[in-house]
Amino acid sequence: MKAFRTVQALQSHLSTIREDQTIGFVPTMGALHEGHLALVRQSLRRDDCTVVSIFVNPTQFNDPEDYLLYPRTVDADLALLESKGVDVVFIPTESEIYPHGRDAWKPIDLGGLDQILEGAHRPGHFQGVAQVVKRLLDIVQPHRLYLGQKDYQQIAVIRKMLHHFQLPVEIVEVPTVREPSGLAMSSRNQRLSALDRLRASRLFEALVYLEQMYRDEVPLPTAVQRAQALLDLPDFRLEYLVVCDAQTFRELQTWNDAPQKIALLACWVKDVRLIDNLPLDNPPS
Ligand code: PAF
Repeated sequence: MKAFRTVQALQSHLSTIREDQTIGFVPTMGALHEGHLALVRQSLRRDDCTVVSIFVNPTQFNDPEDYLLYPRTVDADLALLESKGVDVVFIPTESEIYPHGRDAWKPIDLGGLDQILEGAHRPGHFQGVAQVVKRLLDIVQPHRLYLGQKDYQQIAVIRKMLHHFQLPVEIVEVPTVREPSGLAMSSRNQRLSALDRLRASRLFEALVYLEQMYRDEVPLPTAVQRAQALLDLPDFRLEYLVVCDAQTFRELQTWNDAPQKIALLACWVKDVRLIDNLPLDNPPS
């Protein structure tokens, strides 16, 4: 495995590779877990050369404390990636990513996605994601980009960004990986105590309960209320739990409002903010 810290060194390595190999790219902020490894495995399977980046992007943190407390485990991350057979790791400094400063980005039209759900609760977050992923794609120029479905709205934002800049990259979406308790894997889980980590599995339980009520034809507003009530626990603070059109993110009032639906939530457990989602497939007819 080769590790690069500068854009120039990375690009000169990739330029020869690109002549006859496909490049798969997995952008990360480190603190790697099985969810990231699922993306890595897909890339290793489908592409000739797998590039993983590790960069905790300051511009996507609306909360400075969240940025400071974000887990950083670079040595362990590198050992893990090496053991999985990753070809290239890119660990840039901030000045490599933003040579003209963080503020040089002009916000782009994200079709309103930066105003709703995660966008509403984390002002500026999705512009920061668009900014860093655009920069990373310009540097790596991969054939395929591997993204996890846990960040469902983020995938939609990145699709909008690709369209905006007409970037010819194929997105490969990889299903959410869960802990045995059902809790969606996330780097932020590291900040929870063992007990709170177990208690946080209630988030997924709420989504599964909602899915069951969908199958049982419980009216949508009642189902959402009951699922929300499941998260009414000490130290939990729910920001949203909604059912949306899986394409447009429009919040639904009845189950029949959209052919493809998804339940999405964000909830604090103590001082850690977690998100999760569950696509609601049509019940078999
Ligand atoms: O999903 C993440 O870890 C980040 O948002 C990403 C895509 C690596 C951009 O910093």
